[in-house]
Amino acid sequence: MNLLALETTCDETAAAVVTDRLEVLASVVASQDDLHRRFGGVVPEIASRAHVERVLPVIDETLRKAGLTLSDIDAVAVANTPGLAGSLLVGLVAAKAICVARRIPLVAVNHLQAHIYACRMAARRDVFPCVGLIVSGGHSSLYRCRGPLDFQFLGGTIDDAAGEAFDKVAAMLHLDYPGGPSIERAAAGGNPRAYAFPRALLREGRLDFSFSGLKTAVRYAVEKEAGGGGRGTGLVVSGQWSVVSDQNPEIRNRKHPAPRPSPLVPRSVADLAASFQEAVVDCLVGKAFVALERTDMRILCVGGGVAANRRLRERLQAEAERRQVELHVAPTRLCTDNAVMGAIAVERLRAGLVEGLDLDVFPGVVRNAG
Ligand code: KG4
Ligand code: ZN
Repeated sequence: MNLLALETTCDETAAAVVTDRLEVLASVVASQDDLHRRFGGVVPEIASRAHVERVLPVIDETLRKAGLTLSDIDAVAVANTPGLAGSLLVGLVAAKAICVARRIPLVAVNHLQAHIYACRMAARRDVFPCVGLIVSGGHSSLYRCRGPLDFQFLGGTIDDAAGEAFDKVAAMLHLDYPGGPSIERAAAGGNPRAYAFPRALLREGRLDFSFSGLKTAVRYAVEKEAGGGGRGTGLVVSGQWSVVSDQNPEIRNRKHPAPRPSPLVPRSVADLAASFQEAVVDCLVGKAFVALERTDMRILCVGGGVAANRRLRERLQAEAERRQVELHVAPTRLCTDNAVMGAIAVERLRAGLVEGLDLDVFPGVVRNAG
């Protein structure tokens, strides 16, 4: 049985073909980073329009890579929650159209659960029951995952998501978008103890996260550095700024504005990036292991874009070894949004969980979805 999975929850248009034995026959991801870079974050209207332009070419390319045609597809899975409403709709409508035309079942995918399932796909064996930590641009959440169809919400961010904080702090430091990889690169030469940034809620019993205080603390530190000694170097710390490559000529022909020169010296940027990254990592690692203790579980699965961060991976690994916890962190290509993780739909299909054509999108988080 071949399942076509679609993913358009945010700013990646992705499709994959997986079999009921969880073999990946093809996977294609069209990133929109170039379109959103100059805004320093995802612009929902631009994202949904780009999905409209890309979803069919991405499906075609995926089928071509798999050596299949639509008539070889037995079911279509689509991420319909959570995400940006306009973006979700594009994937859902494409999936429904194929299901109607081909008279095949439609399967709903919860994007957060799929991020955890990326660990299952990489491990090639069962990883449940486990604690699931999802750290992405829109979410920082902990789940008790009793099985692939049984997720119970344990805690999440009360303000910014971890990835969102990376993106916003990168903008403050005049680093390129998306912020996570830029901060990671800048932090490589910095001192993680140069600034004592707050670790909100770390010592409290709750399994929630908060990153807005950390973001504000970085802002104050940046202002202080820019005001004293760092100013006047004229150094441009921003990465390359390219012409956006959209099919819409209005967007295609518009150039990015020239990057503003950073008032910070490179040493300050490196130290601020390293100290910020360490504070985020402390909170994520700390809470993940509290969740394991609280649920009495021995397996931790971590997914989402921020899970690509090498410092986070190192720290999780060290802590897992110390506490003899089995750790699964999704491989980098499966951390950021992709459709391979939509293979969680195979589990739903097996359980007979198929949807009618009235399936809707749910942009907000459905906490205890099964
Ligand atoms: O999971 P994802 O692709 O999209 C959402 O579902 O949100 O995550 C994107 C987020 C962005 O905020 C990006 O800055 C962050 O993941 N990210 C990273 C790294 N790579 C991507 N954050 C920290 N370190 C990285 N290496
Ligand atoms: Zn995601």
